[in-house]
Amino acid sequence: MAHTIAVLAGDGIGPEVMAEAIKVLDAVQQKFGFALEYTHADVGGIAIDNHGEALPASTLAVCEASEAILFGSVGGPKWESLPPAQQPERAALLPLRKHFDLFCNLRPAKVFKALAAACPLRADIVGDGFDVLVVRELTSGIYFGQPKGREGSGPDERAWDTKIYKRSEIERIARMAFEASRLRRKKVTSVDKANVLTCMVFWREVVKEVAKEFPDVELSHIYIDNATMQLVRDPHQFDVMLCGNMFGDIISDEAAMLTGSMGMLASASLNSSKFGLFEPAGGSAPDIAGQGIANPIAQILSAAMLLKYSLGQDQAAAAIEAAVSAILDKKIMTRDIATPGVTPVSTSAMGDAIVAEILAN
Ligand code: NAD
Ligand code: IPM
Ligand code: MN
Repeated sequence: MAHTIAVLAGDGIGPEVMAEAIKVLDAVQQKFGFALEYTHADVGGIAIDNHGEALPASTLAVCEASEAILFGSVGGPKWESLPPAQQPERAALLPLRKHFDLFCNLRPAKVFKALAAACPLRADIVGDGFDVLVVRELTSGIYFGQPKGREGSGPDERAWDTKIYKRSEIERIARMAFEASRLRRKKVTSVDKANVLTCMVFWREVVKEVAKEFPDVELSHIYIDNATMQLVRDPHQFDVMLCGNMFGDIISDEAAMLTGSMGMLASASLNSSKFGLFEPAGGSAPDIAGQGIANPIAQILSAAMLLKYSLGQDQAAAAIEAAVSAILDKKIMTRDIATPGVTPVSTSAMGDAIVAEILAN
């Protein structure tokens, strides 16, 4: 029987990079002998334009009926003047994460050998490459904490958000980070701001308690300001970085760029039953949308994470990762990652090259 996938391409470069991910999924199903059934649905700005809301009930129904969601990106200048609560990011992406309880966001930032020169860090810092996994709590913290509000006028006009974590929320994301580290270098660095924020004092305490269940894993704690600095000073020191919602958002863009481009960082957002939404960590990139130059690799690697985490097709996922690595070795690169002397290829040429590589092996 076919596996069902909800395909939500969204806005900006979303549809451009999604087309390449679908090509790649088609190639692996042919090669590894399983079947995928895609249901496309509008989300974000395009859904506002076509249905009057960013997350129509019909789109949510498609997601509910599927085994996983492959998501592009949402938002852009066209919808930025809407009331904040109606904008694509807040009215579609955050509710989707909350609805499916996708608390565990995995963002693997690994430098491919061929992209060492695309990393903005000095060659001696990059060395033979680094491999950091950002584990970001995704359904709580300051993004969702109540109260939120805005009132008044004049100099006293004010607005507020609330950063709040429950013990159970910290425990479950910490366990995911420790478990993930056991498949890696067994080091977890918990990122917080315990020197200032009460919520983060609590975060640190709970993470320490959870660590007792994982005596084989080395735990350390770091403040977010130092963490952003250490990540560019020496990324090799990190294995798993455990972060709350907002710090994880910030750290993951930094980590993405260290791998060469925002267009390289895939992500998996999972709940406790392995249902997931898989999306690039970057956004709709309005500055390059419609030009056929966006890098589809983050979307393609997100599709690989979908195969691995939600469908258990580990071999197909590994084949995609290997093909990406191989075509980068062949100097097939989009503009954002093109190393000196390389003539950049288009979005679709990149997708075609990855498909050809998969089918050739
Ligand atoms: P962005 O990630 O869209 O773009 C930041 C920079 O990275 C831009 O220069 C862009 O060209 C580049 N970039 C991103 N993805 C790329 C790719 N695949 N290939 C090549 N270059 C790439 O961030 P932004 O400009 O802050 O946000 C633009 C819009 O996207 C906003 O509306 C924002 O809210 C939204 N956004 C959506 C998501 C999502 O849907 N998951 C994530 C982040 C931002
Ligand atoms: C991300 C994005 C989202 C976030 C926005 C678009 C709501 O930046 O997935 O990193 O902040 O989580
Ligand atoms: Mn982000």
